[in-house]
Amino acid sequence: MSAIEKFIAEIPKAELHLHIEGTFEPELMFEIALRNKLKLKYNSVEELKAAYNFNNLQEFLDIYYSGADVLIEEQDFYDLTWAYLQKIHSQNVLHTEIFFDPQTHAVRGVPFSKVISGIRRALEDGQTKLGISSKLILSILRHLSEESAIKTLEEALQYKNWITAIGLDSSEKGHPPSKFQRIFEKALAEGFLTVAHAGEEGPPEYVWEALDLLHVSRIDHGNRSLEDPELVAELARRNIPLTVCPLSNLKLKVVRDMTKHPLTEMLDKGLLVTVNSDDPAYFGGYVNENYLAVANALNLTKEQIVQLAKNSFSASFLEETEKQRMIEKVENFSNRL
Ligand code: HPA
Ligand code: ZN
Repeated sequence: MSAIEKFIAEIPKAELHLHIEGTFEPELMFEIALRNKLKLKYNSVEELKAAYNFNNLQEFLDIYYSGADVLIEEQDFYDLTWAYLQKIHSQNVLHTEIFFDPQTHAVRGVPFSKVISGIRRALEDGQTKLGISSKLILSILRHLSEESAIKTLEEALQYKNWITAIGLDSSEKGHPPSKFQRIFEKALAEGFLTVAHAGEEGPPEYVWEALDLLHVSRIDHGNRSLEDPELVAELARRNIPLTVCPLSNLKLKVVRDMTKHPLTEMLDKGLLVTVNSDDPAYFGGYVNENYLAVANALNLTKEQIVQLAKNSFSASFLEETEKQRMIEKVENFSNRL
């Protein structure tokens, strides 16, 4: 293990952009399909993995939704989440904020209660057995209707204590944040925080809409914000975090190659940027592999890596005192060296 690899592996960090359905590793997918007596479109783990070649977001989403189709029982959601927590425990992730997509499962008749209870039970075990704290973010699928989103939000109200924020994901182009303005207003009125995927494939205008109409606390991805200097200034002035996902950007061709990734430019412009894995089972790495990919391609300094780890806590939805306690852990780690 190289010195930088070891540094990244050991530094305490949080993950803030992670779709639980995107952590579904092929081996577990086959195991769960078998016990649910469902057939996958692929005959083997190798065949499935060979399909993980994407030219854009939509090509990925088609495979991601078909993988999620085998999740039926509460135990399936538990196993999925527990596998992810064990993995990040080995990567020194101390806190995670997880997206889940209840609409993906509702279309197959899987009730909201089974989805959230399985995830929640694993998160509780994550806290007690692994010491990992967590928050849950319900993500609305933007390619579906406003009506479907309303129904989902209404179901979520019963689980208010388990859900910190409402997010927006899926096919970005043609589905601007403005489509969900009313839902997000209701979510805010109910006391949820809001976040939205914006500026991954969509234009800077979608990032403006997420800020102005959805009143988001964070932007997920946000890469294309850099095309608009006024937007960059606004994000910096308001200290709005960007949850950036380098390997995702590479696999979905948001960036041509990792040396062209805008992460350093974002840091240099004073943006509160964080590094995350998005859908690690599909994009070739968990959070540490994402740090390592940018560290190598962009020649990040140790100071920049420390900054990213601190940002991951300051951009989180942890309480202020807890944030400070975590940031001190990062400082103690870096001072030790
Ligand atoms: N973008 C949009 N929707 C998603 C993503 C993403 O990167 N991952 C899972 N759903
Ligand atoms: Zn995402």
